[in-house]
Amino acid sequence: MPTRPIRFFHRGQIVEVADAAPTRSVLDWLREDARCTGTKEGCNEGDCGACTVVIGEPAAPGDPSAVRGLALRTVNACIQFLPTLDGKALFSVEDLKGM
Ligand code: FES
Repeated sequence: MPTRPIRFFHRGQIVEVADAAPTRSVLDWLREDARCTGTKEGCNEGDCGACTVVIGEPAAPGDPSAVRGLALRTVNACIQFLPTLDGKALFSVEDLKGM
């Protein structure tokens, strides 16, 4: 049965990923597919934080911590599955360049 692609915001555009394995990690996608190698792999178990990225999703109305309408949180990309990004925004260390 065909499934629709995963869609998320990354580096200024909407990215579509079709047929992503349900257990593919955000870290593997960043480094292998997006070629964003600034996010590092350390322990690959969610303990060290070398793979930290920021996930943004629509904030609740009136959320005082929202940034441009997004609620932001950090996650360990090595234990975050790629399909969980659907409808969200992904920010990595490359997004800090030039800030
Ligand atoms: Fe250590 Fe992800 S590589 S927390």
